[in-house]
Amino acid sequence: MKVVHTVKDLKAELQATRDNKQSIGLVPTMGALHAGHASLVRRSLEENDATVVSVFVNPTQFNDKNDLAKYPRTLDKDCELLASLQEEENNDKLLIVLAPSVEEMYPEPDNRHFSYPPTDEVMEGGFRPGHFNGVCQIVSKLFMFVEPTRAYFGEKDFQQIAVIKRMVADQQYPLEICPCPIIREADGLALSSRNALLSDEERVIALNISRTLFASKEYAKEHTLAETKQWVIDEINKVEGLEVQYYEIVDGTSLLSLNNWEDSEYIVGCITVFCGAIPVRLIDNIKYKEL
Ligand code: PAF
Repeated sequence: MKVVHTVKDLKAELQATRDNKQSIGLVPTMGALHAGHASLVRRSLEENDATVVSVFVNPTQFNDKNDLAKYPRTLDKDCELLASLQEEENNDKLLIVLAPSVEEMYPEPDNRHFSYPPTDEVMEGGFRPGHFNGVCQIVSKLFMFVEPTRAYFGEKDFQQIAVIKRMVADQQYPLEICPCPIIREADGLALSSRNALLSDEERVIALNISRTLFASKEYAKEHTLAETKQWVIDEINKVEGLEVQYYEIVDGTSLLSLNNWEDSEYIVGCITVFCGAIPVRLIDNIKYKEL
């Protein structure tokens, strides 16, 4: 495994792979790696000749300075996890960790504006203005520098994948976006770097989010879409310490809210909940109908 901090070193490490016309997988992350990230890296190692894992807390996607300052930064631990993962897999393919500085990724302020309505305007887009523009800025830079054959993203950030797919179509990047299923703890909690911010008690409370989403699939069989949406919101808000910011049941491609179960063949419920005193903002989602 190689750790590089500059685009120049990244390109040097990838040169032989490119010369041999071999495939490159990219796993963009903000570090604080957990089993969810590990599943993306495993898949990339399996499907490509070389894998680049970027570890970069991207300032342009944070609209809250506190949130940016608080975000965990654990590069040494992240590198240990990646090295042991490659060892476990008995995989000797090229694995590069790109851990650049902010100056390296943004030598100049990035004035590009990415806009993909309605996909980037609803849900997270409404509550975190500018967030997806920042995500598109950094991901497009990574696509330019790495020139991956495939890029891997976790479905926990369901909306992020939909926005990035729009950007790939718009910018005509010649690569494949590979969505990977949410990884959950044995008790159902969706893995997230933010779970580290939960106290033991808050973690137990947070379990009500995934439990309610799973139960809503049963509830949905006998109820309308509007009833199901309201039921999820009420069940979670009933729990002391949890407060739903939004729950939307949407078309899985456009992310537009739906009124009836018959209105789409691909239906996903996306939720954001505040948990605990600080509070920690948790997201999760569930598929009611899959393509
Ligand atoms: O999902 C994330 O961790 C980030 O939004 C990403 C894709 C690495 C861009 O900074």
